[in-house]
Amino acid sequence: MSPNLPALQAVAPEIVCLADHERSAAERLDAHAWAYFSGGAGDERCLQANYSAWDALPLWPRVLRPLSAGHTRITLLGQEYAHPLLVAPVAFQRLAHADGELASAYAAAALGAGFTLSTQSSLALELPAQAVLDTAGRGPLWFQLYLQHDRGFTRELVQRAERAGYEALVLTVDAPVSGVRDRERRAGFRLPAGISAVNLQGLGSAPTSADGSLCAGMLRHAPTWDDLSWLQAQTRLPVLLKGVLHPQDALQAARLQAAGIVVSNHGGRTLDSAPATALALARIARALQSGGHALPLVVDGGIRRGTDVLKAMALGASAVMVGRPVIWGLANAGAAGVAHVLRLLRDELEIAMALTGCATLADATPALLGEESP
Ligand code: FNR
Ligand code: LAC
Repeated sequence: MSPNLPALQAVAPEIVCLADHERSAAERLDAHAWAYFSGGAGDERCLQANYSAWDALPLWPRVLRPLSAGHTRITLLGQEYAHPLLVAPVAFQRLAHADGELASAYAAAALGAGFTLSTQSSLALELPAQAVLDTAGRGPLWFQLYLQHDRGFTRELVQRAERAGYEALVLTVDAPVSGVRDRERRAGFRLPAGISAVNLQGLGSAPTSADGSLCAGMLRHAPTWDDLSWLQAQTRLPVLLKGVLHPQDALQAARLQAAGIVVSNHGGRTLDSAPATALALARIARALQSGGHALPLVVDGGIRRGTDVLKAMALGASAVMVGRPVIWGLANAGAAGVAHVLRLLRDELEIAMALTGCATLADATPALLGEESP
């Protein structure tokens, strides 16, 4: 057995849904870590809008349909998986639990869920990959990339991810700068000693500008569409774009042969007042369909129930990502806690499918949300 195997912990029996995980995690984590993980940008309108938008969509159940051959399987980037749940990239997971990203990756693999490691992982990118690559029935293993001002360093990071066995790159494009994070500033959040973005070690700091303004400074290095093409030329891996909300950007991504789009507002952490992802997903799915593009859509932001997952699939997603709930599970019981979160969501999804008359996820169409057929 690997010496890195996370310890087995128990989840308290009174935790029966993701909101219970959240309450429990809020009690366990210190105020700094809680501000970092739970906060959104600005007045947190976008953070709240994500929840409200899923809530506002009704599911219109169909009855008496045959359900006997039902399953939750999906196809993503040409592979079949047991269900549509993926772990979103979330930075610095050792702030939540000593096992950090290793525990989340183990749990995801054991549950057949996908796992996306953040560029700002608190563990070397090779560790979670080595731990799960050979797990039978695991979900996709992806590496989230933030393009660094030093493109040579970025290329080496991509090559490391390829060697480690990651199967796709998820290029995050919605955070050329960090959002306005009032909660973190109020809490005086700083990374504690011993936790850092270890995969970025050796990266020099970006050259600063004389006048110190944001636009003259770090934004000179902000990625553009040309960098997507640059990245595609550097790697044999499929490149998905994460953080797309505008249908015109989705069309541009499709034209530039992105392998997929993660419709995301970064969990409400970047631009406050950005639209809820349920709203953006609906518009993007329609725009791509009218344009004759068939690239897969993944969505995240505020997905907390199996019914939310089913709504996302009905709006045209191929899969969904969950961010903070994974951190709550991790804080509550390490790998077992993350597995519990994923299991709850999957069980709830199956129940929602049965109660709406969906034998498979192909039955989840806009009609399930009450939209009349054209
Ligand atoms: C994130 N997210 C994120 N995204 C990314 O591309 N790279 C990253 O390093 C991080 N880091 C990160 C840290 C924390 C604390 C949070 C909460 C989020 C965004 C993440 O991948 C995802 O888009 C959202 O978390 C999804 O929303 P929910 O499920 O948290 O509501
Ligand atoms: C965040 C960065 C790491 O949301 O993406 O905190």
